[in-house]
Amino acid sequence: MTHPTAPTPAQADAFATDVYGGLTQSPQKTLPSKYLYDAVGSALFEVITHLPEYGLTRADERLIKTHAQDVLMSLGPVGTVVELGSGSGRKTRWILEACARRQPCTYYPIEISATALAHCSRELSDIPGVKVLGIEREYLPGLQQITAMRQGESPMLVLFLGSTIGNFARPDAQRFLGEVRKMMRPGDALLLGTDLVKPTPALINAYDDALGITAAFNLNLLVRINRELGAHFDLQQFQHEARFNLETSAIEMHIRSRIRQSVDIPGAGLRVEFEVGETIWTEISRKYLAADVLAMGGQAGFTAAGQWIDQGWPFAETLLVAA
Ligand code: AVJ
Repeated sequence: MTHPTAPTPAQADAFATDVYGGLTQSPQKTLPSKYLYDAVGSALFEVITHLPEYGLTRADERLIKTHAQDVLMSLGPVGTVVELGSGSGRKTRWILEACARRQPCTYYPIEISATALAHCSRELSDIPGVKVLGIEREYLPGLQQITAMRQGESPMLVLFLGSTIGNFARPDAQRFLGEVRKMMRPGDALLLGTDLVKPTPALINAYDDALGITAAFNLNLLVRINRELGAHFDLQQFQHEARFNLETSAIEMHIRSRIRQSVDIPGAGLRVEFEVGETIWTEISRKYLAADVLAMGGQAGFTAAGQWIDQGWPFAETLLVAA
């Protein structure tokens, strides 16, 4: 697998369009969180998963390690494992090993970051009985591609771990689950990882850590716009911010302008004005109640076959079977 250093023209175009759309929004400027994951952003996120304040990934991994066998035993012999977002591969290994103990299977990580995909394929290529085929696409087109070429009767297991679903606003998450369900057959399953509600100070610390890694992760979006769209954001004049929105039960990441300023973004054909204290909203990270997840699944046409909760860092894995 190659490591592209520059985006293709079509990717650069989509980025310019999304930056234009997001930064001309009023009153709240926004940027899509998927652009946080360039090579630097993906590496910073990997560091975040090791921070003492950010218990999410370790809880997800503990649950998968402990319950991978239970998950697979609740299903027929799985021949296809799909993962939405390739992650680091650390936790997926447990699932794939449990799966291949029963029968050979093919693992398709779907991921827009070529770097992350290459890393994951390398990490998981040594498991006996597992064939790894990376798909460099957005989640739904990627899943569509895989289900269109499916052969045989054995069930498919879709993994959507690490609370990535939390990056969707509530109605978008519901719609997304419905779209995934439509591409599944009865007996196929979705293993959904979701971070749970916990005391606000713990949540704020998780998204505003002492070392400033999450701040760098967030501000890297401006670095990326500077590099890819020839913009002139001065990082000294912006500041990371994490807030908990009680109404939506979500952590929000923002980038706050310290001063009144305007910034040129030639590649997006744009000059943006910022008031003092004005923010760009860059990410939503929803925190659920365990029962919310069951309700969302039910509404999308799934039956819950199991739910496992980590007590150390409240987090849930929910196994949803297509009804
Ligand atoms: C990878 C989407 C689960 O929302 O917690 C980490 C990304 N953002 N710190 C999350 C993230 C800030 C993370 N997810």
